[in-house]
Amino acid sequence: MKRSNATTERLFKNAGIEVGMRVLELGCGPGEVTEVLSELIGASGQVLAIDRSNEMLAIAQDRFRESGIRNVRFLCADLSEGPSFLQGIAQPAFDAIAGRRVLMYLSKPDAVIRGLLPWLTPRGIVIFEEADSTIGPGRVASMPSHDKAVAWLGEMLAVEGVDRSMGFHLPATLTQAGLRLEGIWAEAVIEGQGDQYPLPELLRLLGPRLESADVATRADIEQLTAQIIAEANDPTQVYMSGMRFCASARKI
Ligand SMILES: C[S@@+](CC[C@H](N)C(=O)[O-])C[C@H]1O[C@@H](n2cnc3c(N)ncnc32)[C@H](O)[C@@H]1O
Repeated sequence: MKRSNATTERLFKNAGIEVGMRVLELGCGPGEVTEVLSELIGASGQVLAIDRSNEMLAIAQDRFRESGIRNVRFLCADLSEGPSFLQGIAQPAFDAIAGRRVLMYLSKPDAVIRGLLPWLTPRGIVIFEEADSTIGPGRVASMPSHDKAVAWLGEMLAVEGVDRSMGFHLPATLTQAGLRLEGIWAEAVIEGQGDQYPLPELLRLLGPRLESADVATRADIEQLTAQIIAEANDPTQVYMSGMRFCASARKI
């Protein structure tokens, strides 16, 4: 399991995700968190994973296709359009609502969560992992190519209206949704060598979004990625790119 998913697994387990739970996952993307949840809840539990992107859902479904895992279902829905995607599902249906790096994309995350609460059991858990990428860079070595790429990503997220400090906003969001906050934890994201250096892969994946936000051209991205890869074997290059926050709350 990737290091970042192992962290999510630990955080979700600490917050109370356990065997047999029925979990509604918001913004599942390519299904990495879905996989973590599926393992934590076991064969007696169930995950309903939502995303608005059919492309992401196809990747997520592929992840499970040959695994024989039967405790996961996927649904295409835009959370900004309210809970209509749950119509037809009896209330309450879930012991937990969970997600990673999705609330940052919603203009009213508290209203979205509040709208889902009728489907959460009394004392059910709401748990989200979200990031803050504004408090970096934290590093001692000079990393100009890395800094440039991080600045591009920041610009792209600003154009897209993403809340880059969603991690800090978790307690207020969960409280405003009508929940009782149980706790918030955070850890630094350290990037450096080898598999702790996701930036080249991230630039490749986010290339189309960087282009549509008019932040960089395809040629710029390819050139910078090559520079970053060439510099990546320098052991002085260790970089704190931000913080991962995880907060949990309960339905009162
Ligand atoms: C940064 S990705 C995170 C994916 C996954 N949770 C993870 O941590 O690997 C954000 C995901 O949220 C989804 N998303 C963003 N806004 C959404 C919305 N309004 N409704 C449903 N999904 C949304 C995107 O399509 C994307 O797959």
